[in-house]
Amino acid sequence: MIAGLGSRLLRLLPPEPAHRLAIWGLRHGLGGRSLVSYPNLEQTLWGLHFPNPLGLAAGFDKNAEAAPQLAELGFGFVEVGSVTPRSQPGNPQPRLFSLAEDRAVINRMGFNNEGMERVAERIGARRPGRPLGINLGKNRDTSESAQDYAKGAARLGPLADFLVVNVSSPNTPGLRALQNRAELEHIAKAVRKTLSESGSEVPLLLKIAPDLGAADLEDIAAVSMATFDGLIVANSSLSRPESLKSRHKVEAGGLSGRPLFGLSTEILARIYRLTQGRLPLVAVGGIEDAETAWQKILAGASLLQLYTAFTYRGPPLIADILEGLMARVRAAGLPSIVDAVGRGNNAF
Ligand SMILES: Cc1cc2nc3c(=O)[nH]c(=O)nc-3n(C[C@H](O)[C@H](O)[C@H](O)COP(=O)(O)O)c2cc1C
Repeated sequence: MIAGLGSRLLRLLPPEPAHRLAIWGLRHGLGGRSLVSYPNLEQTLWGLHFPNPLGLAAGFDKNAEAAPQLAELGFGFVEVGSVTPRSQPGNPQPRLFSLAEDRAVINRMGFNNEGMERVAERIGARRPGRPLGINLGKNRDTSESAQDYAKGAARLGPLADFLVVNVSSPNTPGLRALQNRAELEHIAKAVRKTLSESGSEVPLLLKIAPDLGAADLEDIAAVSMATFDGLIVANSSLSRPESLKSRHKVEAGGLSGRPLFGLSTEILARIYRLTQGRLPLVAVGGIEDAETAWQKILAGASLLQLYTAFTYRGPPLIADILEGLMARVRAAGLPSIVDAVGRGNNAF
């Protein structure tokens, strides 16, 4: 349904009601199932088996309403959230804008979510059959940020295959300022302590913004090597490339989709060099077909995620990308996608 008649209906609705309808359809099994196996795309990272490297990025299923069904569409893993300790409404609507001519989206949702208790109940009731990441945010009115991440980790860590500390959404005032060495060390320490107390030491990833300068990136690489198990590069951007055509380009918020590909891939390649390829990287930003996915792998990504292109193309995009990746791995004469990671890094 979501790929056919449904997607035509979804395009007629404003973006936020369309999104809610898509989640409803998925929850009710209208998205379909496609659990094809891609032997040369499998890998094990952090002791977790990923049947393929293409995941759904955070923000699509903020409240973990449809994670099992999303995994059944064919994603190799699913990340839910961002989840904050307490529920919060987010910013006033409208706060989500389609820039269709640019194959982009601008959002200023502001961490609207039902809070960690409700999300924990849902995940506890039914887990996806593929790795599940839970993305942690902080409440807008919290002054002690590290404590919010620790609370989220205490409640959701035991239910997750990996956790993500999100300090990079552009729509929570002050959040991106946490992307410095001292704050990140403080947050990681608080979260690790909580995880070890609850006996659930799951891998801990950090999600960063694409709008960071050279000095910030060096700091983040150093902190991440010491205290995180991986990095997600990157969140939506505050930048507005000149090339944007849509009338919505003037809206405030984070830009995602096609115009984010160049910037996020450049940051990814730099982080790969700064971490000497020793830290698993998850690439997100403008992936829309097999070629953009392959470029991210060559730049240094072990895993991939997407959001915006999925809203434009629907579930058929997943198999399109995975088949194209499988063909590229074979054409390069490589036994597995793992052997392609970072192989073209110098070109970026
Ligand atoms: C409507 C919307 C909501 C998002 N919400 C979150 C969020 O809650 N947490 C987060 O870490 N990223 C969030 N993101 C960012 C995406 O996970 C992703 O990093 C970004 O959109 C770039 O990928 P894309 O170009 O494939 O969309 C959101 C993106 C969109 C479009």
